[in-house]
This record gives sequence, C-alpha cells and structure tokens, in this order.
Amino acid sequence: MYLTLYQPLMFSHRLIGLLLLVAISTASLFAAPDIEIGKTLFKNNCASCHNKNMKDKLTGPALGGAVERWASYPKEDLHKWVRNSQALISAGHPKATELWNQWKPTVMTAFPNLKDDEIESIFLYVEGVFKGTYGPKPDAAAVAAGGQNGGDRGFSTIWIYVAFGVLLSLALFLWNVMSDLTYTRKLALGDTTAARATIWDKLTSKGVISLVLFGLILFGGYSTANNAISLGRQQNYAPDQPIKFSHATHAGLNKIDCNYCHDGARRSKQSVIPGASTCMNCHRAIKKGSKYGTAELTKIFTSIGYNPNVDKYIDNYDNLGMDTITEIYKKWISDNYKSENNVKDLTENAQTEIENQWNEIVAAMTSEQKHKIQGPIEWIRIHNLPDHVYFNHSQHVTVGKVACQKCHGNVEDMQTLRQYAPLSMGWCINCHRQTDVKFTDNPYYENYKTYHEELKKGERTSVKVSDIGGLECQKCHY
Ligand code: HEC
Ligand code: HEC
Ligand code: HEC
Ligand code: HEC
Ligand code: HEC
Ligand code: HEC
Repeated sequence: MYLTLYQPLMFSHRLIGLLLLVAISTASLFAAPDIEIGKTLFKNNCASCHNKNMKDKLTGPALGGAVERWASYPKEDLHKWVRNSQALISAGHPKATELWNQWKPTVMTAFPNLKDDEIESIFLYVEGVFKGTYGPKPDAAAVAAGGQNGGDRGFSTIWIYVAFGVLLSLALFLWNVMSDLTYTRKLALGDTTAARATIWDKLTSKGVISLVLFGLILFGGYSTANNAISLGRQQNYAPDQPIKFSHATHAGLNKIDCNYCHDGARRSKQSVIPGASTCMNCHRAIKKGSKYGTAELTKIFTSIGYNPNVDKYIDNYDNLGMDTITEIYKKWISDNYKSENNVKDLTENAQTEIENQWNEIVAAMTSEQKHKIQGPIEWIRIHNLPDHVYFNHSQHVTVGKVACQKCHGNVEDMQTLRQYAPLSMGWCINCHRQTDVKFTDNPYYENYKTYHEELKKGERTSVKVSDIGGLECQKCHY
C-alpha cells in the first residue's frame, strides 16, 4: 500500500522540481521593463527623431502620451509599430494610417530586434519624463507618482514571483510528505535504524543544492551577458551628439568631401574627428543655420572662443569667466531673435526662450569630465574596436582603395551618424576573403613581382586580401 502511494509521489516531486527550474529560468530570462534600460535604448535609438523632452516634436512626433493614444488598441499593436511601422501602415491599421497621413513621407526607422520588455522599458522612460516623475532628483511626490508606473512595471515580475512562491511551497510540502513516507515505509519494512530527516538534512540535500546552484549560474550568466551587451558599442549605435551635426547636410546636400574633415583616413591609422577650427572655415561665414538658427552653431563659437557679434576671436578666452562669456553669446542670441521677429524689446516669453537656449548650449558643451564651456567639443565616439585589434584606415582607403561607404554605409544620407557595420571579426575576415587586392598601378605593391607577372600573363585572375596574409592572426591582433 505504501509503495503504490509512494511511486506517484516520487514522480510528482521530480516534476515539481522541473517546474521550479523552469520558473527560475523564466524569472531571470524575461527581464522586467526597467526605466534605466529604457533611457539608454531611447537615447541610442529614438532620440535622433523624437524630442527627449517628450513634449515637442522633432523629426517625429512627441512621444509623451503615446501609450494613451494607443490605449484603445491591443498592446502588441504599439510594439508592432515600433518594430516596423511601415508594415503596420501597409496592413491598414487605423492609428498607423492616421500617423502616416500626418507625417509622411518621413519614415520611422524599423527596430525589428527590440524585445517586448525593451519597448516597455522605453515607454516607461518616455512616460516618466513626460509626466515629470523621472528626473535626477525625484521628490517625494514624484516617487509616489512613480508608483503608478511601478505598478505597470512590476506586473509581469509579480506574477512570476507568485507562481514561484506557490511552486516552492508545493515542492517543500511534497518533500516533507515524501520523507515522512520514506520513514514510515522503512519502519513498516522492519528497518529499526530508520530516522526522520531533519530540516537541515532536507536543505542540504543534493536536490536543493543543485537547484540553487543552477539558479545562480543562470542568473549570473544572464546579467553578465546583459551588461556586456549594454557596454559594447554595437551595430546601429547612434548616440545624440553635443552638436546636432548632420552628415546628410554636410557630406550629402553640400557635397563636402569626407577627406575635408576626416583627413587622417587617407594618411594614417586613425581617421580623426575634425576640430572646431575646421568647422570655422565655413561657419565664420555661416553663423546662423536654417534649421536651428543660433541654437547649434553658437556651440562651435563657445568651444573655440569666437565672438560672432563682432566677427573676432576673443582674446584670452580660456581664462574668461562665465559671466562675460554668457553676456557675449546671449547678446548674439538676443540680437538674432530681435531681428528675426522684428521687435525692439524682448517679451518675458522671449527672454525665457533665450535663457533656455543658452542653458542648453552650456549643458551640451560641458559635462562631468569637462567643467568649462571653453575647449574641444566632446563628440561621443561611435566606432570602437577592442584594444587587441589593429585596424589601419590608410591601408584600406589609400592602398586597398576601399570606399568609406563600404564600411560606414551611406553616411551622406545620415542625419545622425550610426555604426553601420558590426565590427565583428567575421565581418573583417569575410571581406578579406572576397575582396580583390588592387594590384595594378599601386606603388605599394612594387615588390609583389610574382603576383604581378601572374596577373599579367593571365595565370591568375585575382589576388584576394587573404592571399597577401589578410587572414593571419597577428596582422589584426597585437
Ligand atoms: C528616423 C526617425 C525616427 C526614429 C529613429 C524613431 N522614430 Fe518614431 N516616429 C518617427 C516618425 C516620422 C513618426 C510619425 C509617423 C511616421 O511618419 O511614420 C514616428 C512615430 C512614432 C510613434 C507614434 C507616436 C504617436 O503619437 O502615436 C511612436 C510610438 C514612435 N514613433 C516610437 C519610436 C520609438 C520607441 C523609437 C526608438 C526605438 C522611435 N520611434 C524611433 C520617426 C522616428
Ligand atoms: C564637415 C565635416 C565632416 C564631413 C564632410 C564628414 N564628416 Fe564624418 N564626422 C564629422 C564630425 C564632426 C563627426 C563627429 C560627430 C558625429 O558623429 O556625427 C563625424 C563622425 C564620423 C564618423 C563616426 C566617428 C566615430 O565616432 O566612430 C564616421 C564613420 C564618419 N564621420 C564618416 C564620414 C564619411 C564617410 C564622410 C563622407 C561621406 C564624412 N564623415 C564627412 C565631420 C565630418
Ligand atoms: C565646407 C563648409 C562647412 C564646414 C567645414 C562645416 N560646415 Fe556646418 N554647415 C555648412 C553648410 C553649408 C550648412 C548649411 C547651412 C544651413 O542650411 O543653414 C551647415 C550647417 C551646419 C549645422 C546646422 C545649422 C542649422 O541650424 O541648420 C550645424 C549644426 C553645423 N553645420 C555644424 C558644423 C560643425 C560642428 C562643423 C565642424 C565639425 C561644421 N559644421 C563644418 C558648411 C560647413
Ligand atoms: C575597411 C573598412 C573601413 C573603411 C574603408 C573606412 N573605415 Fe572608418 N572605420 C573603420 C573601423 C573598423 C573603425 C573603428 C576603428 C577603431 O575603433 O579603432 C573606423 C572608424 C572611423 C572613424 C572614427 C575615428 C577613428 O579613426 O577611429 C572615422 C571618423 C572614420 N572611420 C571615417 C572614415 C572615412 C572618412 C573613411 C573614408 C575615407 C573611412 N572611415 C573608411 C572601418 C573603415
Ligand atoms: C570592405 C572590405 C574590408 C573590410 C570590412 C575589412 N578589410 Fe581589411 N583589408 C581590405 C583590403 C581590400 C585590404 C588590402 C589592402 C592592401 O591592398 O593592402 C585589407 C587589408 C588589411 C590588413 C593588411 C593585411 C596585409 O596582409 O597587409 C589588415 C591588418 C586589415 N585589413 C585589417 C582589418 C580589420 C581589423 C578589419 C575589421 C575591423 C578589416 N580589415 C576589415 C578590405 C577590408
Ligand atoms: C582581419 C582581421 C582579423 C584577423 C585576421 C583575425 N582577427 Fe581575431 N578579431 C578581429 C576583430 C575585429 C575582433 C574583435 C571582434 C569583436 O569585438 O567582436 C577579433 C577578436 C578576436 C578574439 C576575441 C574574441 C572576441 O570575439 O572578441 C580572439 C580570441 C581572436 N580574435 C582570435 C583570432 C585568431 C586566433 C586569429 C587567427 C586565426 C584571428 N583572431 C585573426 C579581427 C581579426
């Protein structure tokens, strides 16, 4: 009789152990939305088109309140929109069609790789900023209001924890019943040495320990991978830069040669970002932009110390106090405001607007590392190979005659520059396997006589980069 009861119990105990494992793994794999992750994702993917104050429009509409505007549709619809808005428009979705009619022909970038919880994280951040509940120093009220968002955010995790708790108690209960049964069974079979297992015995049993270890490893692996991904600058990385510099305007519309600004690419390992003095070659004359007026170009002047009111570089700029600097550039912004709006005096609103513009300029041109407004523009580096990799621009651009666009995409169409290539080892190697070395008329290859001869005689149709050592480890690794 004991045996018949014992066996199914034995089985259900294993089953519950298994269910527990599944619960642990889903709990750690299905990350809950996180406002900080949302912030990073927003900055890297959305901020180029959607205003980060969530209230004003930019290239795209203000995102604040978007969740509410989409509330009458299933949640997946908004996720589908972010992953591929054009597909949703083609499918005739009413909200998508409405948006498109309002904003066409501007197409929103598709983000097929964003996961549900990542999209949720973005909107958590969007709503946080929009409602003022997310900020550097939230006050008590903000924290309380944040609880509303928090409810939303905790929803999926809470259920996972509840399910986890239920399963855990069930497992412990069955465990207990089972060890009691084992004990009684042993007694019934005439084993006089049988002893009841203590709590300690149960907690240190193999089953429990391996379960805990498994959980830890899973959790550890997950968070390590997650951190590694958010640390690594990756494909499509397109951070907001301190100045809204557009390659589409400069390299595209105005057809300025890449080498004019990135002169290093031709001649050296590094391609180099141009300094403010290069910008001044043109912006001494173009002092106001058609798009942002004084808001962006003034930043260049503050970096290098150019006084646009009198068209002169400022003496001893590096040692100037902030009051004097503010006076110079506020005058510039105000004068332009007046002439643009054809007014003599500034209204209170206008004054606030100018104040805001100046504050934004100061914020963009200073940072935790750079306390002074004076000095180089702190462009955020986008491409970044690991230190153990050697990459040389001139080898590719000048010797290999590879076009910038092969590796950087159509930069001349990019409003905000983004990393086009994965910069993985496979990416380098594949190209070296497929690309012909430009041998003819290339002084660099004078000494490769045999390849030359073979090519001339037609014994060889091509020499790939792999033939000249492009797959050798030490060529790319220090
Ligand atoms: C290349 C510019 C661009 C980028 C990048 C971009 N969007 Fe958009 N977004 C738009 C435009 C433009 C629209 C208006 C609809 C249209 O033209 O397709 C839009 C509309 C939206 C809407 C609908 C807003 C409403 O009021 O209903 C949401 C939501 C949205 N975007 C979210 C995002 C998110 C999230 C990201 C980042 C992951 C993002 N967008 C990145 C340009 C962009
Ligand atoms: C008027 C000057 C100018 C011209 C012309 C120009 N760039 Fe740039 N480029 C910049 C500046 C400034 C930055 C840094 C800001 C940014 O990332 O947008 C930059 C950044 C870049 C970056 C990213 C650097 C990083 O941080 O990894 C690449 C790649 C690049 N440019 C390629 C090109 C190519 C290709 C062309 C020609 C089609 C070109 N640029 C033309 C000024 C210029
Ligand atoms: C060879 C000339 C040239 C150089 C060099 C140059 N620019 Fe420009 N820039 C232009 C032209 C032309 C425009 C378009 C002006 C317009 O539409 O108002 C422009 C527009 C801009 C704008 C947009 C202004 C607005 O409000 O619309 C910004 C910002 C800008 N440039 C920043 C820079 C920076 C930063 C550098 C240096 C890295 C730089 N430019 C170097 C010619 C140049
Ligand atoms: C064979 C591929 C390839 C070609 C061609 C190429 N680049 Fe790059 N570029 C890269 C890689 C890889 C990096 C990252 C280098 C690093 O992190 O050390 C990079 C980085 C850059 C940077 C950031 C600054 C730096 O030097 O790290 C700029 C700017 C840049 N490239 C501009 C250009 C321009 C302009 C051209 C054309 C004249 C060009 N690149 C051609 C692969 C290429
Ligand atoms: C778009 C194609 C392309 C990509 C992508 C590319 N390369 Fe190259 N690479 C070339 C070509 C073409 C040459 C031959 C240049 C020459 O004639 O010396 C070359 C040559 C080299 C050489 C010199 C090889 C030798 O034996 O002299 C090194 C080192 C190198 N590449 C490193 C890299 C690294 C590192 C990456 C990735 C970060 C990379 N390359 C990505 C096309 C590419
Ligand atoms: C054409 C250039 C190139 C050659 C040749 C090359 N590597 Fe790499 N390797 C790279 C790049 C670029 C990375 C960085 C990839 C990344 O950050 O994802 C890398 C990364 C690595 C890593 C670190 C693991 C990783 O993914 O970051 C190891 C290990 C490595 N390479 C070993 C080798 C060995 C062994 C060889 C010879 C068989 C070799 N490499 C040849 C370009 C090259």
